Amino acid sequence: MQNTQSPELEQKLGLLNELSPAIEKLIARHIEQRNLWFPAELLDADERDELAQRARSLPESVRAGLALNLLTEEGLPHFHRLIAQHTGEDSAWGYWNNMWTAEEDRHGCILRDYARDAKVFDMLGLEKLQYEYLEAGFNPQWHSDPYRLVAYTSLQEKATQLSHANLARLAAPHEPKLQHILSRVAADESRHHKFYRDTFALLLEADPERALKAAWAVMPKMIMPGHTIPGYRQLSDIAHQAGIYGPRDYAAIVSQLLDTWRIATANSLSSSGERLREKLLELPERIHKLAELVTARRSKDPSPAQGLTFLPSTA
Ligand SMILES: [Fe+2]
Ligand SMILES: [Fe+2]
Repeated sequence: MQNTQSPELEQKLGLLNELSPAIEKLIARHIEQRNLWFPAELLDADERDELAQRARSLPESVRAGLALNLLTEEGLPHFHRLIAQHTGEDSAWGYWNNMWTAEEDRHGCILRDYARDAKVFDMLGLEKLQYEYLEAGFNPQWHSDPYRLVAYTSLQEKATQLSHANLARLAAPHEPKLQHILSRVAADESRHHKFYRDTFALLLEADPERALKAAWAVMPKMIMPGHTIPGYRQLSDIAHQAGIYGPRDYAAIVSQLLDTWRIATANSLSSSGERLREKLLELPERIHKLAELVTARRSKDPSPAQGLTFLPSTA
């Protein structure tokens, strides 16, 4: 929990506490809808030889996408810490954070088990990247604001859902097992997204001006936690070109969230709140234009997997 709290921050944390009964309902909905699976149920150790055989046909784009998704999942310690720092351990959030972390931990675990059993990467090379990623830390400039945390996680869960689901689609013709694993992970991300999205909707209803400010602070550019990973740019370029995840997807996520949160009809706003709302409503088009520029630039200047030595096919 934060040591020095401004009155505004105290009010925000107070509201999160007041909203506990509603948040507990969202947690109960999540538990009712989730499908709790375990890595050992999806991946049988006896299958290793067959896995490695089939995985040989995985294209470089799928391998690169798998590396990116796996590394992103392995950033879990950063997020467990951020949620605890921004929401505290005592309310419904303490329970949610531990449960969410336990669910998320299976994602990195199953993707890593798959990658190792199917011999997709040089594991030592990948492990070194993971080490660097965790050692680098991840400290977004949220100024202790729990509203920013909830806005960010609403975006991030949807982005990971899309990324896993698109990768599953591309893996399907080569490796049905990988498709199955990624689809299960994507379904988890979808349920996590719903929790954060609907929590943010509660904040918007109870404290619209400050919630809009928090949305504006994180939505124009989502800082990817893995951006410090050496080779991250190349991996994300490959993922973008292969249709796994890119700036167009981000524009669509922002647009969908603004619709779901009914930003256009938010009322009881001051004149500065109104201006903020207008700026938020213009965001999808702005991000979309930027996405087109980035897409055009990247298609002219393709970034091959050169130097990503943990991908065996490029060695
Ligand atoms: Fe995950
Ligand atoms: Fe998730």
